[in-house]
Amino acid sequence: MSTVRPWPAEKATGLQAFFVDDDGLHLLDQRELPLREVWHIFGGDDDGLESTARAIESLAVRGAPAIGGAAALILAVWAQAQSSTSKEHFVAGLQRHITRLRRTRPTAVNLFVALDRVAAAGSNPEAIVDAAYGYCNDDAAACKAMGDHGADLLNDGDVVVTICHTGALATCGQGTALGVVKSARRQGKDIAVVALETRPLLQGARLTAWECLREGIPVTLITDGMAAAALSRGPGGRRIRRAFVGADRIANNGDTANKIGTFSLSVSCAHHGVPFHVVAPRSTFDDACPDGAAIPIEERDPLEVRTARGTPTAPVDVSVWNPAFDVTPTSLIESFVSEQGVFRRR
Ligand code: MRU
Repeated sequence: MSTVRPWPAEKATGLQAFFVDDDGLHLLDQRELPLREVWHIFGGDDDGLESTARAIESLAVRGAPAIGGAAALILAVWAQAQSSTSKEHFVAGLQRHITRLRRTRPTAVNLFVALDRVAAAGSNPEAIVDAAYGYCNDDAAACKAMGDHGADLLNDGDVVVTICHTGALATCGQGTALGVVKSARRQGKDIAVVALETRPLLQGARLTAWECLREGIPVTLITDGMAAAALSRGPGGRRIRRAFVGADRIANNGDTANKIGTFSLSVSCAHHGVPFHVVAPRSTFDDACPDGAAIPIEERDPLEVRTARGTPTAPVDVSVWNPAFDVTPTSLIESFVSEQGVFRRR
């Protein structure tokens, strides 16, 4: 007899970062892509919780909405495994695990939204599962809605530029910025993508290029330093018409934290008169955060810059600065696309 409620309720047909079944939380290891598809299974014990926290820290699962999803789902798996635990132990364990997960990555606000939602469910395992699966289902629905809203901005034949990875593996649904491209193509528009490789961890090269090829989306990969040239000349002579990017936290004034390099891309877009759009669910809008200066920016291990996939690319002792995100000022953002529609902050 099944003891764990599955997520998603209906088996997904497309790409997904994770799912839950009787064995626990299944997580696709995004560090291994595009070379290998490796799935990990994390159960509802302390080890499963700690392994999920480490998977988030090490970017085995990444992308703002997906980080929240993975954290929520492992808590749901844990809650369903606690049938013989006293209420006191249950509450203490839940608190401990939420505290640990909150420490994994600081910038993506979706993580905290998901954890707060689970925490608000109290000590009833069923309510915790409802809260966790509710976060994931809402995100999947938001992806579809914002994809459709954003697709209205695109014309047949448009080329769009994007950075990092904002597809299915970064969310609980079809994706944010890349989801707009998917929706537009479903409407019959021939949309092509120019993807920045996204140094230092290459989410654009490894994940966006891979997901586009899998989904039949025409994609041209460029290094981050080629963005201005691509905006001025268009790869292959086809002009880039718009930029669509995701977000990890959007402050109340519209300043937007996203993968390092996004700010440079927005400056280049402004110079070339190319509209720059941020695509994100409501869970990425942090209304309590007044502006970009108040957004916590994660700084990561210098080794990520000194090496590429473990191979040294710089002197081992060179000093490094490795912020994982930057903040694009609201003045450079043409519009935001969320499940509520397309709107401006400024
Ligand atoms: O460090 P990562 O890979 O988690 O960073 C991801 C991004 O910056 C994405 O652009 C952002 O989360 C939006 S994803 C839907």
